[in-house]
Amino acid sequence: MRCKAVGLCLALVLCVPGFGAERIHLTVDASKPGPKIDRNIFGQFAENLGHGLYEGIWVGPDSSIPNTRGIRKDVVGALKDLKVPNVRWPGGCFADQYHWRKGIGQRDKRPATVNSAWGDVIDTNAFGTDEFMDFIEQIGSTPYVSVNVGSGTPQEAGEWLEYMTAAAPTALAKERAANGHPEAYKVGFLGIGNESWDCGGAMTPDYYVSLMKVYSRFVLNMNPAQRNKDQMLKIAVGPGTPDTEWTEDVMKAWKKHTWAWDINGVSLHWYTVPNGWPPSTKSEKFGLDDYAKSLKSTLFMDEFLRKQEAVMDRYDPEKKVTLSVDEWGAWHAPLPGSNPAFLVQQNSVRDAVLASLNLNIFARHADRVRMANIAQMINVLQAMILTDKEKLVLTPTYYVFKMYVPFQDATFVPVTFDAGVYTHGSVTLPRVDAIAAKSSDGKLLLEITNLDAENPAAIDADLTGITAKSAKGEVLTGAAVDSVNTFGSPDAVVPKPAAVKVENGKLSLTVEPRSVTVVSIEQ
Ligand code: AHR
Repeated sequence: MRCKAVGLCLALVLCVPGFGAERIHLTVDASKPGPKIDRNIFGQFAENLGHGLYEGIWVGPDSSIPNTRGIRKDVVGALKDLKVPNVRWPGGCFADQYHWRKGIGQRDKRPATVNSAWGDVIDTNAFGTDEFMDFIEQIGSTPYVSVNVGSGTPQEAGEWLEYMTAAAPTALAKERAANGHPEAYKVGFLGIGNESWDCGGAMTPDYYVSLMKVYSRFVLNMNPAQRNKDQMLKIAVGPGTPDTEWTEDVMKAWKKHTWAWDINGVSLHWYTVPNGWPPSTKSEKFGLDDYAKSLKSTLFMDEFLRKQEAVMDRYDPEKKVTLSVDEWGAWHAPLPGSNPAFLVQQNSVRDAVLASLNLNIFARHADRVRMANIAQMINVLQAMILTDKEKLVLTPTYYVFKMYVPFQDATFVPVTFDAGVYTHGSVTLPRVDAIAAKSSDGKLLLEITNLDAENPAAIDADLTGITAKSAKGEVLTGAAVDSVNTFGSPDAVVPKPAAVKVENGKLSLTVEPRSVTVVSIEQ
């Protein structure tokens, strides 16, 4: 077309989606399936911290907020849509000071204790083991229970497991039945302590390894339904800094494990804290500097995993022991006016983008990383849900988890691409990130994150190993990197349909700036 009027031509090209966008070419090879992306990498973490449990989940049966046996109905409804595979509870640092007996039985008779891990607030113990299990059943998830290694004993932890899992009529099983649950609970995962090198007791690796063996030996799951299948997996404490001494000691011990004890996983904690501790990035009203630095810090997760995996591979080349990233996410400065011990922060487009980068890293490490838990589920750190009395808002991170649901237990498929570069100030980042997978119902899934805060990217992808017939997509972004959902404006950052074209085995779409896009391709 020859332009007669320059102004008209300019108007036309500006209306073409993706005009002027950087072109990124992907090759997706569905004929080369990789490992399963374990659904447990989409796990959550609900610690007794601030308003994570109390108010966030538990309002009590007498509350005017609609609830089922004290548990918020709106929260349960929202979480069901995420198909949450597992929930880690009761901590975190809180786990190593928790004495489970204080949280069972008639609620008005439970002792008040002090939550010295998080702000010295009074804990009514109203949300204890049976309430947690009820919550798990209501959302359709699996419990990941961390036992108290720091200030408890193997006997106390063993009895807790007996209370939860014994089917035979032992005294503890009868007590559970008297408390309303005759059927033995299934406990999917057992955490043997938490950050035992720090808040969990400031232990040396040697000292922890000795305790780990004892707990593994005596803290038993007695549920017959978990004897041969659905066995409880035991997760040992792992590192929180990139050095490998702790992992080395745990894996060295594991290599020589006997019939008497075993572990199935080693945990790893890594938060996005771009300026170091204490966290100082703002969670609302921030700019591109904070955005770029946060993404850079997030991408370090890949190197951290590689370092630990190299150690694990030496002791466990068959990859029997999983690396369980059971705390990850953005840790920003507390919201002004909030109790700093409650770790309250807003959740923005930036957090959505960095959630997808983390999930993509876990997917690329799926042969070793078979579990991860974002910190935390509700009202704490990088939450899915924020509540204020009867009000509830779903965060951008919630929507990322929702968009990734089809990736749960999907088979990893390699994607190759030249990511390009996005530079802001002194920070250089890849312009895009992408993963692909084949879902259990035969669809090819493609996720593309556009890290570039200001420019779209025009994606074209060669799809080999499948005959692509049609595709549909969803995109999550907002007006700016610091766009958030609020109680007054809950839909500022919500997924919207994305225009995707499939023709002759090629897929094309334009991904918006600072966005997360998931495409589902039918064959
Ligand atoms: O998630 C908040 C805290 O971070 C956890 O309690 C602790 O394990 C970690 O240091």
